[in-house]
Amino acid sequence: MCLVVVVVYSLTLLLPLGQASLPLVINTWPFKDATGAAWGALQSGGSVLDAVEKGCARCEADQCDGSVGYGGSPDENGETTLDAMIMNGDTMEVGAVADLRRIKNAVGVARAVMERTTHTMLVGESASLFAENMGFTAEDLTTNKSLNIFSEWLKGNCQPNYRKNVFPDPSAHCGPYKPRATVRDKQMRRHANVNSHDTIGMIAIDQAGHVAAGTSTNGLTHKVPGRVGDSPIAGAGAYADSSVGGAAATGDGDVMMRFLPSYLAVEQMRAGADPSTACKTAISRIKRHYADFFGAIICANTTGHYGAACNKVAGFSTFFYMVSNPETDKPALLSVDCF
Ligand SMILES: *[C@@H]1O[C@H](CO)[C@@H](O)[C@H](O)[C@H]1NC(C)=O
Ligand SMILES: *[C@@H]1O[C@H](CO)[C@@H](O)[C@H](O)[C@H]1NC(C)=O
Repeated sequence: MCLVVVVVYSLTLLLPLGQASLPLVINTWPFKDATGAAWGALQSGGSVLDAVEKGCARCEADQCDGSVGYGGSPDENGETTLDAMIMNGDTMEVGAVADLRRIKNAVGVARAVMERTTHTMLVGESASLFAENMGFTAEDLTTNKSLNIFSEWLKGNCQPNYRKNVFPDPSAHCGPYKPRATVRDKQMRRHANVNSHDTIGMIAIDQAGHVAAGTSTNGLTHKVPGRVGDSPIAGAGAYADSSVGGAAATGDGDVMMRFLPSYLAVEQMRAGADPSTACKTAISRIKRHYADFFGAIICANTTGHYGAACNKVAGFSTFFYMVSNPETDKPALLSVDCF
């Protein structure tokens, strides 16, 4: 009986790589309801921007696996802060927010930055004030769950900890910290947890080849307050260009943002690479410098072809992502073997 269930699961859900078709919604991780929300937006006549916004907003409201939206990834002070972006591949406009406090719908605020200012990114307390002025509700993002994660962390001497070259020794003690006299730690890095998926990244392409991409995340659990990852950075967390396609990345943002992997993947596709190869090239570039980084990327081009790639590390050998297009009658779970 068990065997049958496993076989059925693998046949119906784990397509290796499906047919190319438009319109297309593709997103990181098995966040199926987000895919469905984006697909629904397209089906009801919404634009690709509406699809990406609705899809990412669904994850923010559902808290997906705790790595998107309120009540997850408390920072060193126990506060949840949000990062998000949205990009219009027709106009190359971007709206982004980072270190957003007290507002649940971060991708909605990102879209407001794009459509109601001529700026690209707003951050921190000022972004929250902007959001409130634009009609978003300010509310506490803390939940019992995030409080609990925070208090367990305090009890465990603030481990894991992202500081280095400070006193007291951050690998054994809580702060407050002061700079140590010497800076001697080289590449000492703590890995992002491969079990906390950490971001939704989404690409939507309509029948006419209009491309939009976006992301939303609550960042890294126990981050230093003020830390912003790759997600809200154009070209890092996501990129869209309606003359080529789009890409969105997920994983250890502190490392990944140094390589603009989404931009690189789109440029590879522009130069003729198929989406899977473009994704692999972006991962390989990072791997050359950080062999054991945790990360994955999805890529799609304007004919609806798509692919994904991920870096194989301990505990992470398969990356799951979602696709919805006319060939999948409902959001389909796909996977790629990491390399
Ligand atoms: C959170 O915890 C408090 C106190 O322990 C409890 O009264 C409250 O019902 C909890 N809330 C939820 C949503 O579980
Ligand atoms: C998208 O990728 C597929 C697969 O390599 C390729 O056949 C197709 O021509 C590409 N589409 C565009 C618009 O480049």
